[in-house]
Amino acid sequence: MTVLARLLTAAVITMLAASPVHAQDAPAVDDDAIAVDREKGLPEWDKIVAVLSHPRCANCHVEDAYPRWSGAHYGTTRIHAFNISRGEDGSGFGNAALRCTSCHFSSNSSKLHGPPGAPLWHLAPAEMAWWQKSSAEICAQIKDPERNGGRTLDEVATHVRDDPLVGWGWVPGPGREPAPGSADETFRAIERWAAAGAPCPAD
Ligand code: HEC
Ligand code: HEC
Repeated sequence: MTVLARLLTAAVITMLAASPVHAQDAPAVDDDAIAVDREKGLPEWDKIVAVLSHPRCANCHVEDAYPRWSGAHYGTTRIHAFNISRGEDGSGFGNAALRCTSCHFSSNSSKLHGPPGAPLWHLAPAEMAWWQKSSAEICAQIKDPERNGGRTLDEVATHVRDDPLVGWGWVPGPGREPAPGSADETFRAIERWAAAGAPCPAD
C-alpha cells in the first residue's frame, strides 16, 4: 500500500466509524418530514411503476450499454440491432461513428419498424436503470438524488410532464404500444405519491 492509499483507507474507516454516532445524534422526528401514508401512496406508486417499467420507458433506461427492443411490437426481446451502444464517451449518444441521432430524428418515422424519433434521442444514464428492475428497486432509485440527476420529487414529476423523450412514450410511432395513461396523469400520480410521503413497496 502506498502512503496515500493508507491515508485514504484510514479516512474512510474514520468516516464509517463516525456515521452511526451521527445518526444517533439526529433528532428522532423531523418536523418537516411528510407523514408516510402507505394506504394512500402505494396505489399511486403502482400507477407510476407501470409506466416506468413499460417497454417504451425501460428500453432506454438500462444499466448496461445497450438499449433494448422489447414489447409486443418487437416480437422477441433483444438487444438493439446494428451494434450500437452508449458510446465510448459515456454520453448515451452512441459511438462517434454511429450516433443515435444518425437514425433517430426529432420525430417518428412513419414506417412500421422505422426509427422512432424525439429531440436529442439518447440513452438514460446507467444509474437511472429500470430495465428488469423490481418495483422496490425502481422506487429506491427514483427517490435517490444521487441516482436521479439530483432531482426533488417535484422535479421528477415535472420532468415526466414536460420532457420530450418522456412524452414520446405516449406517441411512439406506428405499431408500438404506448405507455399506460398519459404524461399528465403520471405527473399527477407522482405529486399525489410524494404528498403521501412517497412510500416504497417492501420488495
Ligand atoms: C430515448 C431514450 C429515453 C426514453 C425512451 C425515455 N427516457 Fe427517461 N431519460 C432519458 C435520459 C437521457 C434521461 C436523463 C436526462 C436528465 O437527467 O436530464 C432520462 C431521465 C428520466 C427521468 C429523471 C431521472 C430519474 O430516473 O428519476 C425520468 C423520471 C424519466 N426519464 C422518465 C421516463 C419515462 C416515464 C419514460 C417513458 C414514458 C422515459 N423516461 C423514456 C432517456 C429516455
Ligand atoms: C442504424 C440506425 C440506428 C441507430 C444508430 C440507433 N438506432 Fe435505435 N432504433 C433504430 C430502429 C430502426 C428502431 C426501431 C426498430 C423497430 O421498430 O423494429 C430503433 C429502436 C430503438 C429503441 C426502441 C424504442 C421502443 O421502445 O420502441 C430504443 C430504446 C433505441 N432505438 C435507442 C437507441 C439509442 C439510445 C441509440 C444510440 C445509442 C440508437 N437507438 C441508435 C435504429 C437505430
